[in-house]
Amino acid sequence: MTDESFLEVTDVSKWYGDEQVLHDVSFEMDRGDVTVLIGPSGSGKSTMLRCVNRLAEAQEGSIRLDGEDVLAPSTDVDDLRREVGMVFQGFNLFAHLSAVGNVALGPQRVLGLSKAEARDRATDQLERVGLGNQLDSYPAELSGGQQQRVGTARALAMEPKLMLFDEPTSALDPELIGEVLEVMHDLVEAGMTMLVVTHEMSFARAVADEIVFLDAGRVVERGPPEQLFENPEKERTDRFLDRIASHD
Ligand SMILES: Nc1ncnc2c1ncn2[C@@H]1O[C@H](COP(=O)(O)OP(=O)(O)OP(=O)(O)O)[C@@H](O)[C@H]1O
Ligand SMILES: [Mg+2]
Repeated sequence: MTDESFLEVTDVSKWYGDEQVLHDVSFEMDRGDVTVLIGPSGSGKSTMLRCVNRLAEAQEGSIRLDGEDVLAPSTDVDDLRREVGMVFQGFNLFAHLSAVGNVALGPQRVLGLSKAEARDRATDQLERVGLGNQLDSYPAELSGGQQQRVGTARALAMEPKLMLFDEPTSALDPELIGEVLEVMHDLVEAGMTMLVVTHEMSFARAVADEIVFLDAGRVVERGPPEQLFENPEKERTDRFLDRIASHD
């Protein structure tokens, strides 16, 4: 147990029907690490993230989080999702609830906090993401960047031990991306363990401890950002990075 990593993904394989979408994917993270998954569309990035909180079921391999066997049939998926926060590309906020209502819902319903406690916690988290002045705004009254920050506050209000981000900025207008990255940056500074799918390479370079490059469901290469971006070992990585850079 003692030298086990905080998150250990080992030889994970997954199929949808006959199509194998993950092939023996392995990587590990220590507590407080930031790992960024990159790769072309369809390479399995979202699927890999979703296997970690069992929104998708890996058929082979092992995932261990903080010493627990995530894929064991006995694992309580609700407990797991309480411990693993996720922020998606779409914001998935409840339109009929205010910002504070959206963030307080989980703590109240799932964690059993009183209404007042849940509201206090939601207020704290919304302040943390810079929305202390928008507590009572409804999603339709908020910009995409603000909605995504509410989504992040909602995940944080559950006090997760791991945060998953799946392209949190890719649905946003360019001028709104920065405010969401800034919140993520603050989380990194606060020591949150984060597994992130993003095409924001300068963010990845600034905060990642490790970059994992996936292609066609396989880990082609992984390493610290300086190495992977400056000096990729594989020609496939080089080509992908060139293509990304030419779109920046
Ligand atoms: N629910 C599903 N049912 C069937 N096939 C799926 C499902 N989800 C994903 N796939 C397939 O699995 C493969 C990996 O998809 P995934 O969404 O993980 O890729 P991705 O790297 O996140 O791509 P993108 O950058 O476009 O988000 C693709 O071939 C996709 O079509
Ligand atoms: Mg995806």
